[in-house]
Amino acid sequence: MAQAEIGLIGLGVMGSNLALNIAEKGNKIAVFNRTVERTHEFVEEAGALKDNIVPCETIEEFVAAIRPPRPIIIMIKAGDPVDQQMELLRPHLEKNDIMIDAGNANFRDTMRRFDALKDSGLTFIGMGVSGGEEGARHGPSIMVGGTEDSWKRVEKVLTSIAAKYNGEPCVAWLGENGAGHFVKTIHNGIEYADMQMIAEIYGILRDGLKMSATEIGEVFATWNMGRLNSYLIEITAKVLEAADPIGGKPIVDMILDKAGQKGTGKWSVIEAQNMGVPATAIEAAVAARSLSSLKGEREAAEKILGLPAVAPLSVSDKTAFIKDLESALLAAKIGAYAQGFAVMAAASKEFNWNLPMPTIAKIWRAGCIIRSQFLDEITSAFTKAPDAANLIVTPAFADMVKETDGSLRRVVSAAVLAGLPVPALASALGYFDSYRRGRGTANIIQAQRDFFGAHGFDRIDGTDSHHGPWGSGLGAGA
Ligand code: 6PG
Repeated sequence: MAQAEIGLIGLGVMGSNLALNIAEKGNKIAVFNRTVERTHEFVEEAGALKDNIVPCETIEEFVAAIRPPRPIIIMIKAGDPVDQQMELLRPHLEKNDIMIDAGNANFRDTMRRFDALKDSGLTFIGMGVSGGEEGARHGPSIMVGGTEDSWKRVEKVLTSIAAKYNGEPCVAWLGENGAGHFVKTIHNGIEYADMQMIAEIYGILRDGLKMSATEIGEVFATWNMGRLNSYLIEITAKVLEAADPIGGKPIVDMILDKAGQKGTGKWSVIEAQNMGVPATAIEAAVAARSLSSLKGEREAAEKILGLPAVAPLSVSDKTAFIKDLESALLAAKIGAYAQGFAVMAAASKEFNWNLPMPTIAKIWRAGCIIRSQFLDEITSAFTKAPDAANLIVTPAFADMVKETDGSLRRVVSAAVLAGLPVPALASALGYFDSYRRGRGTANIIQAQRDFFGAHGFDRIDGTDSHHGPWGSGLGAGA
C-alpha cells in the first residue's frame, strides 16, 4: 500500500473533521489517537473515505505509515499536552520530519518549540486553523508559520483542503516560526471586536428601540445582504430568529449573558500592548467579555446603583436610525480591522516575519470566522497601498471612514445619552478621532512628566531646551 501523504494525531472534534477533509480531497492520511477505541470509531464513521485513512494503534506503526519527510499534524489541547506529545513523538522521527501544531497555540510557545528543534534536524510548523468544526471538515482558513522548505512539503495537501474564495485557496505561508499562530491570534482579536460590536448594536435595538429578537434578526438578515455581509452577521440573524425548543421563545432570550473566552483574544491585546500599538476596540471587546462574566457583581451593582438616570433612547425616524446603526457598525469594524492589521505590521518588524498583509486579508475572505466581502476590500486596499501606515489612510478606506464616521458618532452619542453601554463602538470612534488629529494633548502629559520627574520634552520649534520653567523645588523630582 502507498504511504500516507500526511499524519494526524488527535481525533477530537477538530482533528477528526480535518482528517476527513484531508481524506476526502484524495490525500492518504495516517491517524493516531491516545485511545485506540476512538481511532476505530473514527474509521467506522468515515464511510467511503476509509480507503484514504490508515488507522494506527502505535506511534511506531503511525510514523512508518507516512512518506518521509513526514508532516505530522498535532491537533490536541493547546499548552503542555502539545509539548508532551512532541516529546513522545520525537524519538521516532527522522531528519526533516515536520511536527505541525494546528491548535490555537500562543505564538510564543510556537517560537520556543521552533527554536528547540533548530539543530535537531527536525522542524516545526505552527499552523493557525480557523472556521470551527464546519470549516475543518469542508474548508478552513489556514495560516502557516515555519520554514519555507517545510511549507513546500505540505503546500499541496493544505491547498487541497483549504476554503476557496473565487477559486483562490485560503491558505498561505506567512513567515518563519510563530508567524502563523500570531496571525491566528490577531484573527481572534478581530473576531472578539466584531462580535462585541454586533452585541452592542443588538443592545441598542433591544434595550433602546425595544425590538424583539425576531425583529432584530430581520434587521441583521437585511444587513447581511449589504456592505456588512459576513459570516458573523449571517449567524447573528440566524441565532436571533431561532426558537427555544423548550418553551418556544427566542432562544437568545433564554441564554445567560455571560461570555466565555479561551485566551486568544487576550493574547492579541497583550501583544499589542507589548509593542505599543493601540488596539483599543479589541481591548474593549476583551474587557467586555470579562465584564460579562461578572454576572453576580453586575446584578448586585444594579441593585445599589440602579440603571443610569437618563431619558430613554428617543428616535424620531426609526428607519433612518437603523440605517445609521448599519453604517456605524461598518465604521467601527473598520477601526477594529485597522488596529488588528497595525498590530501585525508591528509584529512583522519586531519578529522579522515580513508578513504579507494583502495575502493575510485574502486568506481570511473565506473559511474563517471573520470571513466577509469586506476582507476583499482590505486585500485590494493593501495591494494598492502596500506602504500605508494604517488601513484607514489607504485611499479606499479613508473614503469609507469619511462616509461612515458621522453615523458612528451619532450612534455612540445616542447610546451614551440613553445609558446603553457601547465600549467597543466608542473605542473605535475615539481611535479615529485621536488618530486623525495632528495636534493632540500629550504636550500636557510631557509637561507633567517633566514637572514631577524631570523626564524632559521636545519642543515644537526644535529649540534645544528640554525642561520647563517649573522653578526651584518644584521640578526635577520635587
Ligand atoms: C476560529 C475560532 C476558534 C476559537 C473559538 C472560541 O477561528 O475558528 O476563533 O479558533 O477557538 O471561536 O474562542 P473563544 O472561546 O476565545 O471565544
